Amino acid sequence: MPPIIPETHLTIWPIDPLSKEKATRWSLKLGLPLVDHPPISSMDTPILAVDQGRLEFRLGTTHQKGIFAEFSAHKTRIIQRQEGKNGLLARAVGLRKLSSPRILDATAGLGHDSFLLAIYGCQVQSFERSPWIAALLEDAMERGYSDPETREILEQRMTLHSADAVNFLQQPTTTSKVDVVYLDPMFTKNKRSALSRKEMQLLRLLVGQDEDAPRLLHAARAYKPRRVVVKRPVKAPVIEGNAPHFSITGTTIRYDVYLPEV
Ligand SMILES: C[S@@+](CC[C@H](N)C(=O)[O-])C[C@H]1O[C@@H](n2cnc3c(N)ncnc32)[C@H](O)[C@@H]1O
Repeated sequence: MPPIIPETHLTIWPIDPLSKEKATRWSLKLGLPLVDHPPISSMDTPILAVDQGRLEFRLGTTHQKGIFAEFSAHKTRIIQRQEGKNGLLARAVGLRKLSSPRILDATAGLGHDSFLLAIYGCQVQSFERSPWIAALLEDAMERGYSDPETREILEQRMTLHSADAVNFLQQPTTTSKVDVVYLDPMFTKNKRSALSRKEMQLLRLLVGQDEDAPRLLHAARAYKPRRVVVKRPVKAPVIEGNAPHFSITGTTIRYDVYLPEV
């Protein structure tokens, strides 16, 4: 099944005068119109806003904060606290067995999981097919480079690709392969994830439901990495196709792990 991505007519709105230059740059790069004031009728219309130099996705003129990506020292501490040192994700990608594994995060989203994996010392290539979400990630990378605590992690361990991971996985490769392919496709409305409920709602408006997740899993397994890891809500069925070799289960989420067929 081909990806079904909602059609979105976005504009870019610099909220404060200092954000105008950055908004103009993103407007040119993404080919989106720049607006000084979004029309009042656009309360429920998605908009890319630049607020104090940060690119965010918001609903219309609402003054609530939007969704954005962040790779700062502050964010590092929050996600380390949430995941804990011997967290489920570390076990799922096999951190004890593989030292500094190379990971392809095929569903980068707002980059929480990619960033956590990079903090753990993994080399992470993050793929995001929505150009708008990829723009949020790129903006967060730029801001993160100026944070002395995260600069090295980002420069040395995280690479961002604004592209569909399936295309990459299906290309014959001449360079060395990644060890782990990690997938966290969107799921039904109540999915527990690294993202808050508001973040998930807004994200769903931009990227849809990832109904083509079975195609992605198939491409990931055909690439034959040492592991494919799929994040699921704890009670959700496995992604259509073969059963995983084992699962690592927490209270709200589960990681299904697929090993290569012999
Ligand atoms: C639930 S979010 C991932 C959240 C992410 N794990 C995080 O920590 O922020 C799923 C994301 O995967 C992206 N996605 C789904 N299929 C993809 C594919 N084949 N290639 C690249 N990105 C994909 C969607 O656009 C969406 O942004």
